Order: sequence, then C-alpha cells, then structure tokens
Amino acid sequence: MKILAIESTCDETAAAVVESCGEGVKILSNIVASSVLMHQKYGGIVPEVAAREQIKSIVPVITEAAGEDKENIQAVAVSYGPGLMGSLLVGVESAKALAWAWKKPLLKVNHMAAHVFANWIVEDRSGMVPEFPAIGLVVSGGHTDLILMKDIKNWEWIGGTRDDAAGEAFDKAARLLNLPYPGGPEISKAVDRVTPEMKEKFGNKFKLPRPLLNEDSLDMSFSGLKAAIAKIVMSFRKMDEDVRDMLAWEFSEAVIEVLIKKTIKAVEKFKPKSVLMAGGVAANKQLRETLRIEVEKHDIKFFCPELKYCGDNAAMVGAVAIIAPKEVKIVELKPDPSVATV
Ligand code: KG4
Ligand code: ZN
Repeated sequence: MKILAIESTCDETAAAVVESCGEGVKILSNIVASSVLMHQKYGGIVPEVAAREQIKSIVPVITEAAGEDKENIQAVAVSYGPGLMGSLLVGVESAKALAWAWKKPLLKVNHMAAHVFANWIVEDRSGMVPEFPAIGLVVSGGHTDLILMKDIKNWEWIGGTRDDAAGEAFDKAARLLNLPYPGGPEISKAVDRVTPEMKEKFGNKFKLPRPLLNEDSLDMSFSGLKAAIAKIVMSFRKMDEDVRDMLAWEFSEAVIEVLIKKTIKAVEKFKPKSVLMAGGVAANKQLRETLRIEVEKHDIKFFCPELKYCGDNAAMVGAVAIIAPKEVKIVELKPDPSVATV
C-alpha cells in the first residue's frame, strides 16, 4: 500500500510517498522545502511569512514527491497539528483536495506522533523497529515530553517540561548569544569549536544550574537556564567568541544532562524494552551519542531516527499512516494548532 503523506505544520513544506516494509515503513520519496532562511533576520518564525511560503511550495513539493506514480497511491495522509494555523491550513486543505479528486481515503496524523514514528522508518525488511513497552523522549521546538508507549496505540504522558521546550531553550539561548536562528544547530557548532584549552582556561566560571535534576519526578524546566544565560551575557560589555562558545557549551551540557537523567529515571521506573528519541532536538550529536550509551548500559535497545528524519518531514507522517492509520471523513478534518502529543 503506497501512501502520499503531507507535512506543513511550521516552516517546512514536505511530501513523501511511503509503503510498509516488514514491521516498519520504507520511504520511496521524501521532499522537503524550508523557509527557515527567510525567518533568520527576525530571529524566529514569522507565522505569516511561513504560511505564504507554504502556499508557494505545496504544489511543486507534492508533484515532485508523487512523481509519475500517482495512480498507485492508495491513500493521502496529512499532519493536522500541532503547529501554526496558517501553515497547517495549506497542508490540510491540499490533502483534502487530493483525497477528494483521487477518491482515496484521507488519514489524519498528529505531528508529534509522526516524530515518534520516524523510528519505524527502515531501509529493508530486516530493519528493526522499537519493541513495546517503550519510553519515548520527544524533543522539538515546541515540545519536551516523556511518554510511556504500552503498545502502538496506548500512550501515557509521564513527564516533560513545565515551561520552555528544549528546542525553544536552544533557540532562545542562541539568540542571547547573538547566534542565528534556529539556535540548536548553531549551539552545536559552537560546542564543536570549544577546545580542551578553552575548557581549562574557563573551568567552572560559567557553571549553569541543572533545573529539577535531583527532584524525584520526571518534570523538567528550561526557562531558568535562559535567565541564567541572560544574566551572564549582561555582565559583559562585549563578549569575545571564546566566551560565547564556552557559554553555548555549558548551556548544551546542562540541557543534555537534564534530558538524559530524566529519561534514565523513566527507564528505571518503567523498565521498558526500548527507548526512542524523536523531534528536531534529536539531531543533536552529543545528545544522541550520550543517551545511547546510557540506555544501552541498562541492556535496553535505543532508537533514534536518521538525521534527515529528525526535523520536520513528511516521511514520518507517512510512517504513522502505515503503522497506526486513522481514517477521517474529508469534511470533518480541520487543523488543530494545539493538539497534545498524547
Ligand atoms: O521538530 P522540529 O524540526 O520542529 C518542531 O516540531 O518544533 O524541531 C525544531 C527544533 C528547533 O528548536 C531547533 O533549534 C532544534 O529543533 N534543533 C536542535 C538541533 N537541530 C535542531 N536542537 C539542538 N541541537 C541540534 N543539533
Ligand atoms: Zn516537528
């Protein structure tokens, strides 16, 4: 069964054709157009600009993803939220129009579930998929959730941030450090510039708090870190590049330590068979590598999508449509900007 999947929740316009493959999902095409560079000069997403770019990109992106194979597409899937209303409308209405014109079923997909199901994307039939029960760490620009997945459909929210999402914290810290948007990849670049000599020179000078780290709950909090960075930045009249990069490094260490400790706390509490990570922040190299080591110490399998499936894309939307399809009547589907992960 081939499915055309569409994603337009924020600043990416994406379409993919996917089919089932063993217990997982195989990607036949995966096209992503991004308006991220247009938002850089504003230091964050401008919803009106994002929506306008969605309108410009949607037809070429779908046309390229569907290719010559349109007759063999058996269903159309689309992310209906969470996201920005203007952006969501473009993907949802396009999917409805195609499902109607082609007389094919329409499948609705929660964008956060799609990030999670990116872990079901495999190259071939021997590809492994997560086993249940699983713990999911979902870390994106707007969400930081720990979820207990008892099976494909039964998910329970077990913890997460009380305030800013991890990606949002990266973006805000980068902005305070005068680094471009989106902040996550820029902070990672700054981390890579930090040398052992710099670490020795600055020692613990910029030590930041690890909020709620030792509290006996799966709650997290990242807004205090942003305030702590702001205070240090304000103490400098002019900040040199080494200090900026050291601050980015310490910030990244603090966020990653909290995410890992809380995930491992969840592992010890719920004893899952697998742990999976998902969302844009899952592209962070240090987080991927360290979390894998910590999870595998518990003899549990760790899953994390390939980098191209961490940020927003339609392949992951197609993965949900294959693994956990939810058919909906065309007239009933509406965007929902604030639908929850669970
Ligand atoms: O999942 P995503 O592409 O969009 C949402 O659904 O929100 O996530 C975007 C977020 C941004 O906040 C971005 O800064 C963050 O993912 N991000 C990273 C990295 N790459 C992207 N955060 C930390 N390290 C990275 N390497
Ligand atoms: Zn996303």
